[in-house]
This record gives sequence, C-alpha cells and structure tokens, in this order.
Amino acid sequence: MPLSINGQAKLVGLIGYPVKHSLSPAMHNSAFAALGLNWCYVPLPVLPEQLGEAVAGLRALSFVGANVTVPHKETVMSYLDHVTLEAQAIGAVNTIVVREGRSVGYNTDWRGFLTALSEGGFDPQGKRAVVLGAGGAARAVVYALAQAGAQVTVLNRTPARAQALIQDFTPLFPPLSLLSFPLTLRTLEERTVEAHLLVNTTPVGLWPEVDRSPWPEGLPFPGHLAVFDLVYNPCQTKLLRQARAAGSKVIGGLGMLVHQGAAAFELWTGEKAPVETMHEAASLGIRN
Ligand code: ATR
Repeated sequence: MPLSINGQAKLVGLIGYPVKHSLSPAMHNSAFAALGLNWCYVPLPVLPEQLGEAVAGLRALSFVGANVTVPHKETVMSYLDHVTLEAQAIGAVNTIVVREGRSVGYNTDWRGFLTALSEGGFDPQGKRAVVLGAGGAARAVVYALAQAGAQVTVLNRTPARAQALIQDFTPLFPPLSLLSFPLTLRTLEERTVEAHLLVNTTPVGLWPEVDRSPWPEGLPFPGHLAVFDLVYNPCQTKLLRQARAAGSKVIGGLGMLVHQGAAAFELWTGEKAPVETMHEAASLGIRN
C-alpha cells in the first residue's frame, strides 16, 4: 500500500461493476510501493449507463489509465479514441492508457495467459488444445493459443456462440487451426484423446461452488493432458484436483491475473513489473 498520497501522485484504477472483491488494487498498489513509485490504483465502480462518462472522466481527471473488467470489457471499446488491432480481434479491452489526452484500449489478458502457460511449463507451439467455454475469457485464450501456433478446438454449452467465435478468428489464423463443437460428454472424451492441453474458461468451480467441475465425474481423466483452469479460488479447483490425481500437469488461474496485471503495469509506468510482489499480493488477497 502507498504510505501517503501527495499532490504529484499518478492515478490509475479499475472500471467495472462490481469491483469490491477485485484483487487488482492490492496487486498494483503493492507493485507501486515495491518500486517506490508515487502512483495509486483505485476501484472505480461504474454502472453500464455511465461508462461513456467514466471514460471521458479518466481523461478529464488526468488518470494515466485504467483496467476494465466485467461487464464493460466489450462495450468500452466504443468510447475509446483508439483500440489496438489485438484488442479489436479479441473483441475486448481490459486496459486503457491515456496518452496526450487520447484514450487507447489494449487487451493484456491474452499475453497474461501465454506468460502463465509458459511459466507453468507448457509450450503451445504445434500442440492441440481444447478450450471449454466461448465467452470473453475464451476469446482471449483462443487468440493467444492460435497466435502461439496451437490448433484449438472450442467446446461450448451453446454451440452457436462457439461457432461465432471461430468464425471471427478464422480469417486471422492458418486454415483448420480452429474448430468448434457442442460441449457434451462425448465431444469432451473424443476431443481430448489426442489433445495436449485443456483450458477451462467457464466459471464452473468458482468459489463457493468448489465441488463442481466441467469434467464429468464418471469420465476417467486422461493423464496425458495438461490443464489450465482460469478459475482461481483459495483452494485448488475440483478440475485441477481431478487432473492432478490422474498425473496431469496443472496450472491455476492466478498466474494469468498476475501477468495481465503486470503487462498493464508496464504499459502505464514504462517500468518492469515486480511480478513476484504482485503474485504475493494477489495470493494474500484471495485468502482473505
Ligand atoms: P467470461 O467473460 O468470464 O468468459 P462469459 O462471457 O459470461 O464470461 O462466458 C462464460 C462462458 O462459460 C460461456 O461460454 C458459457 O457458456 P454459454 O455460452 O453456453 O452460456 C460458459 N458457462 C457458464 N456456465 C456454464 C456451465 N454451468 N456449464 C458449462 N458452461 C458454462
């Protein structure tokens, strides 16, 4: 936490609704303190109907930037002066930088995912990945995996949503690198047989429903499959427990949160983010 905020403090914040339980303020303020930066990260609860005013407010109040979270990641794009090609392709902005009075939207989620994946010891190049879910988080993950040269199959409860995701991305990536199917026991079994990585982007297993898993109880877990669960809880998710019991490599979602934050931190400050400090602050926050 910053010891004091004086008149020269630079401001960033988190635009979302609700933002009460976010780990980002603790994570970023610890990082500013660790580097001795006179910066402060504040929660900015913004209702959907006031999003445009809030973005204009960032400029008016001389904020350096902001993170953007649920439910504004997609809608915020129309209020920004510029959106990077990556964020446009993903269809979501999670970081804003205000430069010379212009607001620029970035997406750091996809990089955060790739860094966490690599930190977990998995190289996606040339591998087959199965992604569960087709929402905003899945879009960043699919984009990241396809960028890194993986072949990706999306399985979703609502098949049309997965098809739409694939259609949006198909022009950007090599032919046949993206597929989608409805999420059923059969597709899960068939599609994971020859895959190397399973990524859960659905909220199934999120606290307090820690005994729920997107992997069905009766289906033996294939131990050859590495698993990345975007869900992070104080305890390991049921999916990761199932995978670990089968001998799989498992990666929890906290690393992605930390690394998307680190990438945003670097965009705002131009300094290398103190990733370990941010990880400690997020881990501490999640247990409280
Ligand atoms: P986010 O931005 O976190 O990705 P989202 O856009 O609401 O959130 O997407 C959530 C994803 O999880 C969706 O793909 C959703 O499936 P539908 O498209 O069918 O709604 C999926 N999801 C949510 N709850 C689920 C459940 N109980 N079982 C399977 N999939 C689920």
